[in-house]
Amino acid sequence: MKFERKDFLWGGATASSQIEGAYDVDGKSLTLAEMRPFNPNLDRKNNQEMNNYTKEDYEKSIENIDNLHYPKRFGIDFYHRYKEDIALFKEAGMNIFRMSIAWSRIFPNGDESEPNKDGLEFYRKVFQECKNNGIEVMLTVQHYDVPYPIAKKYKGWSNKKVIDLYIKFVSVIMNEYKDLVKYWLPFNEINVAPWSPITGLGIFKEDYKTSSEYLNAAFQGLHNQFYAQAKVIQIAKTISKNIKMGCMIANMTTYSIDCNPVNVLENLLTQQINRYFFYDVVAKGEYPTYSKRFFKEKNIKIDMTAEELKVIKENTVEYITFSYYMTSTVSKELNNQNGGNLIMGGKNPFLKATEWGWQIDPIGLRITLNELWDRYQLPLFISENGIGVVEKLDKNNTVDDSYRIEYLKEHFIQINEAIGDGVDVFGYTMWTPIDVVSLSTNEMSKRYGLIYVDYDDYHKGTGNRYKKKSFEWFKDFIKTKEL
Ligand code: BG6
Repeated sequence: MKFERKDFLWGGATASSQIEGAYDVDGKSLTLAEMRPFNPNLDRKNNQEMNNYTKEDYEKSIENIDNLHYPKRFGIDFYHRYKEDIALFKEAGMNIFRMSIAWSRIFPNGDESEPNKDGLEFYRKVFQECKNNGIEVMLTVQHYDVPYPIAKKYKGWSNKKVIDLYIKFVSVIMNEYKDLVKYWLPFNEINVAPWSPITGLGIFKEDYKTSSEYLNAAFQGLHNQFYAQAKVIQIAKTISKNIKMGCMIANMTTYSIDCNPVNVLENLLTQQINRYFFYDVVAKGEYPTYSKRFFKEKNIKIDMTAEELKVIKENTVEYITFSYYMTSTVSKELNNQNGGNLIMGGKNPFLKATEWGWQIDPIGLRITLNELWDRYQLPLFISENGIGVVEKLDKNNTVDDSYRIEYLKEHFIQINEAIGDGVDVFGYTMWTPIDVVSLSTNEMSKRYGLIYVDYDDYHKGTGNRYKKKSFEWFKDFIKTKEL
């Protein structure tokens, strides 16, 4: 089969806190991501790992008297090796690179009057390097790396003052990089906020007396991000016509476990609140009617002004990007058991899962693309998709990752099918072109890359880069477009 769409963008995605390292270099402050230690006893199937740390754990990490290892302080040392990495992306045939910018490098305390010149300079060099190599940049402004000073002093995104700090930060970087960066995503997976407020919003649960107050703060933080996103879309229009503003949502497609209407309805309600709600606000510019019932039932009260709602209405996204890793099932019984855990649904007997329990579903990607296209009629972009596996270099200094080739191929086929269905999907950035530190479990062992990086979970190793078998496969695919 030949991949049909000629102007399709092909590339890879990363995030600053998972690749850069150099956590204390050139004026950078600490981010919450860099304050979560590696847990050698982690349970890989426990999707709550990143919610397990207390405010005290974060505070203790500054002195680190327990001598723990904080993987995101070191990443894969992209800060110093970016030229080598970008050269490899080019060699693989990528024409787009999704990365994020660390707020903590530009405004280390969040509220300085002037940006940090060294931070600005670093990203200018990276973007320029991409340009020199014919690679377009898709920039995520905030990818799960709230600077610690913002969490400590302002209580994170629950505080409306953070909106102003963020708008100032984005205005600075947009003016700086308007000619180097075309695609902008204000927030990574904006919908993760209610499920992991510490990760998405920098809100500590210990700052709230009850879990319902904490949930309320999370939805307040989410609203503040919706407004901040709309505001920077509005500002972008005044800065450059070349800037393309999109959103990024963790797509959670679920299926009803069976055809019992009770479960079908439960799935519909789950899809509304866990998935469509977020797309609806950023693409249609309004809180959907069903969300009002949800807020009422959960007693969630959000402080939103008429002016904020107007800005949200008038500044919707030009295209939709989403991450797609898995699908799951929904039943009334399971939802009752897990109290509506937003992230992991039930098992699907028709799908295989990774060691982390992520159920692989290429056909679900075609379903998702069709559903989103029908509902929003906006160009779509898959900004994350990939498979994490424990891997070791073999004696030939490579990894025979045939399963990854299979995974990519199956997903590419379904994208091609969706294009055949008439869906306007214009690009794909795999998670990841190169091994990175895992977001949820902080491991280096959970590898996603086409390129192997010689670091272990404790950042021991040479850091050298090696091409896996999938690298050669991808390179070949880009030349032939044969699947
Ligand atoms: C996405 C995040 O949800 O999932 C990435 O945007 C993350 O930052 C990716 O790395 C894969 O998750 P993990 O936990 O396997 O790294």
